[in-house]
Amino acid sequence: MTKPIVIAVDGTAASGKGTLAKKLARHFGFAHLDSGSLYRLTALGVIRASGDPGNEADAVAAAGRIDPAQSDTPDIRQAPIAEAASVVAAIPAVRARLLEFQRNFAATPPGGAKGAVIDGRDIGTVVWPEATSKLFVDARPEARAHRRWLELKSLGQVVEEAAILADIRRRDARDSQRAVAPLKPAADAALLDTSNLDIDAAFAAALALVKARVEEALEARPRG
Ligand code: C5P
Repeated sequence: MTKPIVIAVDGTAASGKGTLAKKLARHFGFAHLDSGSLYRLTALGVIRASGDPGNEADAVAAAGRIDPAQSDTPDIRQAPIAEAASVVAAIPAVRARLLEFQRNFAATPPGGAKGAVIDGRDIGTVVWPEATSKLFVDARPEARAHRRWLELKSLGQVVEEAAILADIRRRDARDSQRAVAPLKPAADAALLDTSNLDIDAAFAAALALVKARVEEALEARPRG
């Protein structure tokens, strides 16, 4: 069997990793998975069932019920869902439940794509440690909060920038300090700091970091 081609894009909250992952997927014609949406869908499921995101039984049951096809729903993009997602994500049994879907996506990308780009927190460390190429995307918390504030403003949502910064810091702390699959760069990840880069410059930098390995892997594939 040919080895799957996988680009792992991990990073901190609102670092721009999702946008970069999408752009990389488009560039190479690969399938894209936003693994954070699985944790967000789980959190939404718990809340809709009037459960407690910190309760293992509630969270595992919700993880078992998610439909990844619903990952475009705007309902999961709300701040309270992001917060609840990082709570359910700290529960080992929830992570175990969501792991198989992510590994299947990497091994057999949908639509017959030649490869997959997966963004998250633990893709290069836990989900697919043998990834073809790994990026770890970060930016100063203030830069991330400001970008998120601009994005929300463009959607007509008025939110205090200081509140966004506090949310980002709290989520990063919880994600980094949890016992299972904590947020941290894989030893072999290329680090990309987007604090001073706009999206085009960040994409050019990301592409430059992954290109050689991905092209080499594509060339090594049997034709047809
Ligand atoms: O990336 P996003 O902000 O959508 O992720 C929401 C939350 O899901 C994160 O704060 C994190 O707690 C969790 N997550 C995770 N592992 C992943 C992706 C997301 O723990 N691979």
